[in-house]
Amino acid sequence: MGEFIMENRMILAIETSCDETAAAIIRNGSDIVSNVVASQIESHKRFGGVVPEIASRHHVEQITIVIEEALKQANIVPADLDAVAVTEGPGLVGALLIGINAAKAFAFAHNLPIIGVHHIAGHIYANALIQPMEFPLLALVVSGGHTELVYMKEHGSFEVIGETRDDAAGEAYDKVARVLNLPYPGGPRIDQLAHEGQEAVAFPRVWLEEGSYDFSFSGLKSAVINYKHNMDQRGETISPAAVAKGFQDSVVEVLTAKTLRAAREYQVKQVIAAGGVAANKGLRTSLEHVFVEEGIPFFVPPLKLCTDNAAMIGAVAAQMFEAGIRGNLTMNGRPGMELHSWTE
Ligand code: KG4
Ligand code: ZN
Repeated sequence: MGEFIMENRMILAIETSCDETAAAIIRNGSDIVSNVVASQIESHKRFGGVVPEIASRHHVEQITIVIEEALKQANIVPADLDAVAVTEGPGLVGALLIGINAAKAFAFAHNLPIIGVHHIAGHIYANALIQPMEFPLLALVVSGGHTELVYMKEHGSFEVIGETRDDAAGEAYDKVARVLNLPYPGGPRIDQLAHEGQEAVAFPRVWLEEGSYDFSFSGLKSAVINYKHNMDQRGETISPAAVAKGFQDSVVEVLTAKTLRAAREYQVKQVIAAGGVAANKGLRTSLEHVFVEEGIPFFVPPLKLCTDNAAMIGAVAAQMFEAGIRGNLTMNGRPGMELHSWTE
């Protein structure tokens, strides 16, 4: 399947799977006409993580405002649109439903087709907003809920070749941040501290069995917790920067090595990183370095397209639209939705 030529195709995309209420207008699958994100991070901070009920309530309050703002910034009216796209899953069910119901109401009122999008496909397609995707492609998806290596032989074809067996990379970051008494979300703070650290505490690298592309981060997280307890018991103070650097070095080394090995084995033309943890400076630098040496083009979206947004959902929906895929008004939130190909 080759590239489709799209003519002024306009899609309204909506994303509410976790703690960002987002709407965007995407033209021809790659132009961001508007991209509005209302973050709830401040509301969840004092609980040290996302509280599902609070997330749903925020989405309800924000969704109409965010959609209207996306249309206004794009300077268009609903009649200019070709379709409405929305994250169908995975995510928090109550949060997903707010976006899905808003999308259904909008689609019904304006007689537009509705397209349900997988959130992880969205993270991967954030890259399509920056430069064309070249296939076969390997994507490293690292977010608060996911750590996956995905092989794509063409648009809409997803093969998960490796995934985490326990914690997601971002989850490990957030848990280690709690141990260090850093505010939620911990990823960016640990990243910053790791760069301030001169020394690194030695933590294990978890490779799993030979040849596996799976990941495991819970052992590393426990090693950090044990280290802190041991130091506390001995009455010694820890260096948060050295812990952050030791932890980050371990995560980055394993993610980089497995991505490189998969890129070689699958002989891909492009490697991309996606998801909130792809915002990590240490990880970006490490991947850029190895793929320059390897001679494989490597891309990672700018920070605001790495974390949750609706533009990425619109980028996927544009491809699905051209492939003739349509949802309908019986669409429901799918909290455990799996990443399936829409090609075969
Ligand atoms: O993709 P995302 O916005 O939401 C999910 O779909 O999960 O990812 C959020 C995750 C959080 O765990 C956050 O701590 C992590 O991404 N994160 C980072 C960085 N920025 C965000 N982790 C490490 N380093 C960063 N700079
Ligand atoms: Zn996400």
